[in-house]
Amino acid sequence: MSFHEVPAESLSFNPFEKISKEWMLVTAGTPAAANTMTASWGALGVWWGKPAATCYIRETRYTKEFVDANDCFTLSFFGDGCRDALKLCGSVSGRDRDKIAEAGLTLAFEGCAPYFEEAQMVFVCRKALALPMPKESFVDADAYENWYSKGAYADNFHTMYIGTIEKVLVRD
Ligand SMILES: Cc1cc2nc3c(=O)[nH]c(=O)nc-3n(C[C@H](O)[C@H](O)[C@H](O)COP(=O)(O)O)c2cc1C
Repeated sequence: MSFHEVPAESLSFNPFEKISKEWMLVTAGTPAAANTMTASWGALGVWWGKPAATCYIRETRYTKEFVDANDCFTLSFFGDGCRDALKLCGSVSGRDRDKIAEAGLTLAFEGCAPYFEEAQMVFVCRKALALPMPKESFVDADAYENWYSKGAYADNFHTMYIGTIEKVLVRD
């Protein structure tokens, strides 16, 4: 598959629908070692004067280690045909299984970040900010109870990553 680059300012879609309903893969690493996870929380906008993308990663995610260790990450968006692949990448850890291969996804590299040949649109992001979001920072009184109090979510807080968008790649 090949991709072409488009200016972020030329994009036209509903980000709420795209991120929360279609989901995305957050991916980081090198040709030697990379990992990915499904995400449905995120944001697209402007940060430090540039087009930027935000994702939120809980402490326990293996993907967090790759995002922390590398300068870049990508957000990849897919068509309906990859729904099962995104379900797998959102339910299995790369610590336990080679989920990228199992999902039938093919890693490709753009600059400092891995993405997927099967994607329809990819945001190549340079990490600009990594901000842990501890309980003390919550203003919403219900947030802890709703999102950080039970089971695998208990005290499993998110870190917010903002990346300035270096490239937007769209499938030809
Ligand atoms: C639809 C969906 C959305 C998800 N969104 C997020 C998210 O925004 N942040 C997060 O930390 N985990 C999210 N997850 C959970 C991770 O994708 C999941 O725990 C994954 O197995 C982590 O893989 P890893 O350990 O290889 O990084 C989501 C899962 C699904 C199915």
